[in-house]
Amino acid sequence: MYALLRNILFLLPTETSHDVALKSLACAQHLKLLALFNPAPPPCPLTVMGLEFPNPVGLAAGLDKNGDYIDPMMALGFGFVEIGTVTPRPQPGNPEPRLFRLPRHRAIINRMGFNNLGVDHLIEQVDRRQRKGVLGINIGKNFDTPVERAAEDYLMCMDKVYAHADYITVNISSPNTPGLRSLQFGDEFGELLSTLKARQQVLAEQHDRYVPLAVKIAPDMSDDELKQVGDLLLSHGIDGVIATNTTVSREAVTDSPFAKEAGGLSGAPLRERSTQVVHTLANHLAGELPIIAVGGILSAADAVEKMQAGAALVQIYTGFIYSGPSLVRKSVRAIVDRR
Ligand code: FNR
Repeated sequence: MYALLRNILFLLPTETSHDVALKSLACAQHLKLLALFNPAPPPCPLTVMGLEFPNPVGLAAGLDKNGDYIDPMMALGFGFVEIGTVTPRPQPGNPEPRLFRLPRHRAIINRMGFNNLGVDHLIEQVDRRQRKGVLGINIGKNFDTPVERAAEDYLMCMDKVYAHADYITVNISSPNTPGLRSLQFGDEFGELLSTLKARQQVLAEQHDRYVPLAVKIAPDMSDDELKQVGDLLLSHGIDGVIATNTTVSREAVTDSPFAKEAGGLSGAPLRERSTQVVHTLANHLAGELPIIAVGGILSAADAVEKMQAGAALVQIYTGFIYSGPSLVRKSVRAIVDRR
């Protein structure tokens, strides 16, 4: 049934089909139809970063950038939903076309560029939500904020979302904001982490509530760089790492007509590299820092693979587009069966 629906949606221009699909889901949720067509996943409770999750399969950032679809996403059975990336000020993102489907590869290339309505809109949406569930808020910097002043944007977002988030993700790994990924390396990285950690401590006291901080990293770095990143996250008391964002590599899709499009590649071609990253980090960190694994989960077996590589939780984006909402339930069931 989903395959048929997907084939119809794929006839539309990419961004239009994205909007139609999300609006239809919201409508179905409003009419209480979602549960009818999409039974709930089995319970699989677990505690990660001090938070209680009903199951370990979450929605990755980028699908619901503005927090407009939190309730329908929660209703689909995700164990947690990450909204954003949100920036302090609204921004339109890159010019279209900026989203490309590679159906033969079950992949997407995107260079959206953090198109979003700004952090104030997102907070309004979060306040309006009706369903309970673990909510992550993913924060970034505006494209016209110089990278040397990126910390100011992250702090501004942190201040605003702190009271509304169960956890906050610091996105320093999107390939579509010039210079952003340089924040993952060198002295800048340590300085940024110290600044964010200090603000988290202040906010925790102010709000009398500790909101964990996760950092989302790119797959495009060497094992040594990865281990350095892991060490710095640990030494700065960061609460979790999200691995990985999209890749700039095109190795696996050289035969696609879109291979030369700039942006980040996600979906099946990213799976192996992203699992390697999780594996390397898990071995290096020896369980001291929870890993949220994302990248190329298109089947329940892929979700199990990530957990076996050392993930505490997983997230899905491209697999949701290609395999449909039942992927959430199937992934949870497969993880439960392996426990
Ligand atoms: C993304 N992703 C993303 N990540 C993020 O931290 N902030 C964002 O705004 C976005 N935006 C975004 C848009 C689109 C169109 C895609 C396909 C992806 C990355 C996403 O969360 C995830 O890390 C990667 O896509 C890898 O997972 P999948 O898609 O292979 O399951």
